[in-house]
Amino acid sequence: MDLQGDDLTTAVVASFDGSANPRTRTLMSALVRHLHAFAREVDLTEDEYFTAIDFLTRTGQISTGTRQEFVLLADVLGLSMLTVGLGNRKPAAATQSTVFGPFFVEGSPEAQLGDDIANGAPGQPCLVSGRVLNIKGEPIAGALVETWQADEEGFYDVQKDLDGPQNRAHQTTDADGNYAFWAVKPVAYPIPDDGPVGELLRAGGRGPMRPAHIHFMVTAPGYARLITHVFAAGDEYLRNDAVFGVKDSLITDFTEHPAGDQAPYGKTPDRPYYSVNYDLVLATTEETQQ
Ligand code: BEZ
Ligand code: FE
Repeated sequence: MDLQGDDLTTAVVASFDGSANPRTRTLMSALVRHLHAFAREVDLTEDEYFTAIDFLTRTGQISTGTRQEFVLLADVLGLSMLTVGLGNRKPAAATQSTVFGPFFVEGSPEAQLGDDIANGAPGQPCLVSGRVLNIKGEPIAGALVETWQADEEGFYDVQKDLDGPQNRAHQTTDADGNYAFWAVKPVAYPIPDDGPVGELLRAGGRGPMRPAHIHFMVTAPGYARLITHVFAAGDEYLRNDAVFGVKDSLITDFTEHPAGDQAPYGKTPDRPYYSVNYDLVLATTEETQQ
């Protein structure tokens, strides 16, 4: 046997015919066909092949439970956002989904409405509030709202050597669907670019920056889980997010308040602060096409 060209591709595709799971066969058949078509299109050299293998090897070697370089690679290649779009087809009234990112941590502290979750993180205080609603505009009581974000220096708590969580919590909406917590005003920050993904960005003449945002994951019985961000209007990186995560409907104003301006939930900060109010609208599982 002397397989070359199209015959080689056909043979590799056929080698998955015996897959126990038909979906494995579908996935591997398409992957092999597209991978071979890519190599043919660019006339892949052996040097380039070994460079790619070395890149993927180093991507694996730098990865840990908290440094997820493969997730980062999928993010900068737009694969994460493509998959988010395919998996979350829902009515226009529902809040759009965006990338999960690598900085979520299970088991965040519980916060009551109006609690300060910054826990000493550097940054300007920011009251983050809104309601969790269904697509008819009705409140969803008892929804679980999980949130996480970077501080003013552009770091998540898990990137720092800390004793406890900062700018990270979960809370349950009240009878009117309200969520509310104090954190810090988010700023634009670079995704980790000291590894292979950073090399790729530089080779492509691309930057590592993400526009300022707050992460949310919202779950409620009967509703599709919402993973999204709220982005700060006016940020200079909204049009060139390193991971292509921005959707216009997720951009909102952060309002500046002078010191002494009374805020809801019984706090009157003694320094200037920001507030942002954003409703998170869930589609039911039936309203969401997976
Ligand atoms: C984030 O927003 O936390 C994030 C998303 C994708 C890649 C890196 C960071
Ligand atoms: Fe983020």
